[in-house]
Amino acid sequence: MTAGSTYGEALGRRLYTAEQISAAIGRLAGAIAADYAGQPLLLLGVLKGALYLTVDLSRALAAVADGPSEIMVDYICVSRYGTSTESSGAPRLLLGASVPVEGQNVLLVDDIADNGLTLESLGAFIQKRRPASLRTCVLFDKPSRRRVEVPLHYAGLPLPDAFAVGYGLDYQELYRNLPYLAELNLQASFEKK
Ligand code: PRP
Repeated sequence: MTAGSTYGEALGRRLYTAEQISAAIGRLAGAIAADYAGQPLLLLGVLKGALYLTVDLSRALAAVADGPSEIMVDYICVSRYGTSTESSGAPRLLLGASVPVEGQNVLLVDDIADNGLTLESLGAFIQKRRPASLRTCVLFDKPSRRRVEVPLHYAGLPLPDAFAVGYGLDYQELYRNLPYLAELNLQASFEKK
C-alpha cells in the first residue's frame, strides 16, 4: 500500500500546497532578515510541530542578503495535546533549550498559534531568562480559536477553524511529514486505525 492511498481516505481538502507554504516561509524570512539585519539571532523552534518550519526558515534566512549577522538554531519541546484533538491545561515543558537565551535576540518559532497558550507560556518562560529581545513567528494562524492575546510578530498564513494536518501538524503523531496542509477527516482517520 502506498502512503498516498493510506492517507487518501483520511485527508480532506488541501488548505495550502507545498508551494504556497514555501512562498510564505520566503516572505517570513524576508521580513525577519530586514528586522534583524546586522544583528545576531537565535531561532528557537517549538517541537515537535515546528521542526520542519524551523529548518526551512533557517535555510530561507541564509539565502537572504543583508540579514542577521549570525544565526543559531535551537529547539525547545512542549506538548499540550497528548493524543487527544482537544488541547487543555498548561503546556508541559519536555525538553529545554541547550543554548542559554540570556542576552540573545530570541525568535520563538512555532508551526501554529491556536488558542495561544503555548506561546504565552513559552514567552513567560523565556522572558525570565532575560533575552536581549523576544519575538514570535508562526507559519499558521488560527485567530478564531484564540483564548489569550499573544503578540505574533511574524505570521505566515491564516487558517479556518478546521482540524488541519501536515507540515508539522499532527493527529496522534501522524501526518506531520506531509509537505502540504490538509483538512483531516477525523472519522475516516479513526476508522483507518
Ligand atoms: C501544537 C503546535 C503548537 C501548539 C499551538 O503543539 O505545535 O506548539 O500546539 O497550540 P496553542 O496555541 O493552542 O497553544 P502540541 O502541543 O500539539 O505538540 P506538538 O508540537 O508535539 O504537536
